[in-house]
Amino acid sequence: MRVDELFDLSGRVSVVTGGSMGLGFQMATALAEAGSSIVLCARNYNKCAEAATIIAKLGVETLAVSCDVRFRKDVRNLVMRALEKFGRIDVLVNSAGTAWAAPPEKMKIADWQKVIDVNLTGTFICCQEVGKVMIRNKKGSIINVSSVLSSVGNRIIDCINYSASKGGVDALTRDLAVKWAPFNIRVNAIAPGFFKTHLTTSVIERRGNEIINLTPAARIGGDDDLKGPVVFLASDASKFVTGQVIAVDGGYSIM
Ligand SMILES: NC(=O)c1ccc[n+]([C@@H]2O[C@H](COP(=O)([O-])OP(=O)(O)OC[C@H]3O[C@@H](n4cnc5c(N)ncnc54)[C@H](OP(=O)(O)O)[C@@H]3O)[C@@H](O)[C@H]2O)c1
Repeated sequence: MRVDELFDLSGRVSVVTGGSMGLGFQMATALAEAGSSIVLCARNYNKCAEAATIIAKLGVETLAVSCDVRFRKDVRNLVMRALEKFGRIDVLVNSAGTAWAAPPEKMKIADWQKVIDVNLTGTFICCQEVGKVMIRNKKGSIINVSSVLSSVGNRIIDCINYSASKGGVDALTRDLAVKWAPFNIRVNAIAPGFFKTHLTTSVIERRGNEIINLTPAARIGGDDDLKGPVVFLASDASKFVTGQVIAVDGGYSIM
């Protein structure tokens, strides 16, 4: 295949959780720019619908669905709506995520649990429900969203729950890659460094200079830094790549 064919997502259908804003929106936009139809979900339907309208202007079909990834019934409804409209799901990007900060010795178990529930259990539920469709189709690419904090101790904020959830995402990614390779399903993860989004606005405002000093590329992640990696992992360009966690962090994790 030619390289433009390898990266082409025309005719594919991508589901992006947490696609209403932030990194999920950036990745959904990239997949649309490569030709994929897009299904966006998050809890806030209106924000999802606004994002879907913006992406539709790129000339692809879109669908917005309200879904809380912690709840299997919501995720089943998401899959049903995607199949009703498009009849298939080729790509799943698990970008829905949250964070909660407290010193490890003081963190309440409820605050530990709420981050694990969204970032790790929610990712697993989405993999399970979309994975059943991909297993039937004998093809699929799942892209989990990890974090640089899955592989290094955190010198910036106290969010051990978040780091642990993303470490779990990495382990889940590798194990699912092994289990589902026989079904022609690839499972990889992207581990972003620090990007300015709703999730990180306050930490970047307070500690942005320290983050930049700890980053060899000497900057925060930008509006198109995830576009290439996500299209690579979603498309046939990476058809021999599975079980990998790709850091997109300006080198933060190698310091
Ligand atoms: N920004 C960074 O620097 C950075 C770095 C590394 C990794 N990440 C990861 O990247 C992913 C996206 O983060 P972001 O920075 O783009 O954050 P963001 O701007 O706050 O976006 C988070 C998205 O997840 C959705 N969401 C939150 N809880 C949800 C739930 N229970 N069910 C369904 N959707 C839910 C949000 O919409 P609703 O609130 O409407 O549900 C929103 O669409 C997360 O997994 C995060 O851990 C971010």
